[in-house]
Amino acid sequence: NWTGELIYEGKAKRVYRVDNEFLVMEFKDEVTAFDGARKEHAPGKGRLAAAQTAFLMGLLGRHGIRNHLVDWDGDRKILVRELRMIPIEVIVRNYAYGSFLKRMPLMKPMTKFSKPLVEFHLKSDELHDPLITTDDIIEAGLAGQEQLNEIISIALRVNEILSDYMVSRGLMLVDFKLEFGFDKSNNLVLADELSGDTMRVLINGRHLDKELFRKGASAMDLVKSYEEMNKILGVPLNT
Ligand code: C5P
Repeated sequence: NWTGELIYEGKAKRVYRVDNEFLVMEFKDEVTAFDGARKEHAPGKGRLAAAQTAFLMGLLGRHGIRNHLVDWDGDRKILVRELRMIPIEVIVRNYAYGSFLKRMPLMKPMTKFSKPLVEFHLKSDELHDPLITTDDIIEAGLAGQEQLNEIISIALRVNEILSDYMVSRGLMLVDFKLEFGFDKSNNLVLADELSGDTMRVLINGRHLDKELFRKGASAMDLVKSYEEMNKILGVPLNT
């Protein structure tokens, strides 16, 4: 049953409640950047991003990373387990790029870090997702120290699995964003999406991800590069 009550609508996704255990995430055919300031209709993008998310969550699941994915409808929707979400974005970086360079302009773009960096941002469009410390998170009661340690270790493991897979396909994983929640037994579970909207992926120095749109490419060109990314990753076009 792929329908239910609409409980959330964001810039690129809608979430429906199926029952008290499962939700449906629907990926919209929209692309936005700069906190929604640039927005374009992107026919076909929802299905490609749903396929990427389903494929990569499946890959992580086979490597023992607990995540919310249950099923994909072969189109723009995935069925997921409902979680109590932690309102933070966890970013893992392998190379100096993006907002890292804005706050640390002393490094040359695309310098490889001596080890992957893990950072936390508060989810808040109004405040533009500010960088926060682990102490901030603990003081605000969003998570405890042990839970943060577990989040960091899962995030680094996810980075290893994804980076290895990308390298085997001739791609480079620059950075990506993760979100976590707790299930009913209070286990930490990887949630949300893993797509060209939330990762920076290069082939021979060329972006296949949303950076293209941030830098001025059209929505149509972005959809084409998501198609290319899926082909290279071996993401199936149906279930
Ligand atoms: O912009 P920044 O360099 O902080 O982005 C790091 C990574 O996190 C990029 O792969 C970007 O696509 C992702 N990200 C995201 N959602 C945000 C901010 C960043 O998926 N709100």
